[in-house]
Amino acid sequence: MKEKDYGVTIAKSAGFCPGVKKAIDKVLELESSGKKPIFTLGPLIHNNQVIATLEEKGITSIGHPSEVEGKEGVLVIRAHGITPEFQREVESCGKEVIDATCPLVKHVHNNISKYAGEGYTTVIVGDAGHAEVIGLLGYTQGRGYVVADESEVLALPDFDKVNIVAQTTQKEAAFYKLAELIKQKAKEAVVSNTICEPTKQRQSETIEYAKNADFVIVVGGKNSANTARLAKLCGELAPKVLHVETEADLEGHDLKTPKKIFITAGASTPNWLIDRISGAVKNARMGAMGHLANFLYKMWAFIINSSLYTAFAAL
Ligand code: F3S
Repeated sequence: MKEKDYGVTIAKSAGFCPGVKKAIDKVLELESSGKKPIFTLGPLIHNNQVIATLEEKGITSIGHPSEVEGKEGVLVIRAHGITPEFQREVESCGKEVIDATCPLVKHVHNNISKYAGEGYTTVIVGDAGHAEVIGLLGYTQGRGYVVADESEVLALPDFDKVNIVAQTTQKEAAFYKLAELIKQKAKEAVVSNTICEPTKQRQSETIEYAKNADFVIVVGGKNSANTARLAKLCGELAPKVLHVETEADLEGHDLKTPKKIFITAGASTPNWLIDRISGAVKNARMGAMGHLANFLYKMWAFIINSSLYTAFAAL
C-alpha cells in the first residue's frame, strides 16, 4: 500500500513496471541527447496519453524499418521484444538500433530457446497476437502454440515433450490451471512459470486489497492487455470495478458512498496519471467541509510558519 487517505488506498505496485520504465527512460535519454528522429518498432507502451507526449517530442511508432528507408534516425526495439528473425532484419537495415527489450522478457526467450533446442514443443499461455507473444513464438523453432483458455488447450495435439511457459503478465492461478491440463497431453512436461516478478507483486497486492474494498478503480489504457487483466482480477474480488483511462471516465460514478476505495494501475500507466485520478477521487470524497478544513489547516500552518520566521528574524 502506498497511501491511505479519505478511505482511498493506492497500490504501491501501481504504475510503470521496471521494463517499461527503462524503455521510456532510454528513448527520452536519446531524445535529449539530440539523436532524432526516433522510431519505435510498434507503440512503446499501450497508453494513449504517454504515446501522445512522446509524439510531441518527435518519437513515433512504425511497424517495419522499410517505412523509414533512406531517412535518418534511430530505431528502438520496445520492452515486449521481437522474434530473432525480425531482430536480425532490424539490425541489418543500416540504422542505429537500441534494444529496449525487458531483461525479464529476454529470460523467457532464453528459456524457450533452451528447451526448443532439446526437442521440446513450446506452449505459451498468453494472448495470441500480443507483441510479446509474437516475439516468444519466434524462439520456438517452429514448434510453438499459444493458448488462452481451456477450450484452446483441448484443441491442442498430443506431445512427446512440452515446455509450458507464460506471457510475462499472465495471471498466476490461471497459468497453473491451464498448465495442469496441458501436462495431460504430454508424455513429458516442463512447467516454466515465466510470469515476471513485478507482475506477481502487482497481482498479490491487488488480491490483498481488492478483496477488502467496496470499489476498485483500475487506471490504464483500454488497449493495455495487462491493465484489462488486472481489472478482470479485481472483478473477481470486489463488488464494483471501474477501468479508467482519464478523470473523464470517473464522471457519473458514485465516489462518495463507498467506504473503501482501492486504486491500482497497469504496468504501462504513468504515475502522473495515477496521481491525477487519485486526486480527483479524493477531491470528490472530501466534500465542502473537507475542503474548508483543509484550507483552514493550510492557513493555520502558514501563520505559524510566518510567526516563527518573524521571531527568528528578530533574534
Ligand atoms: Fe518486463 Fe514484466 Fe514489465 S517482463 S516489461 S517487468 S511486465
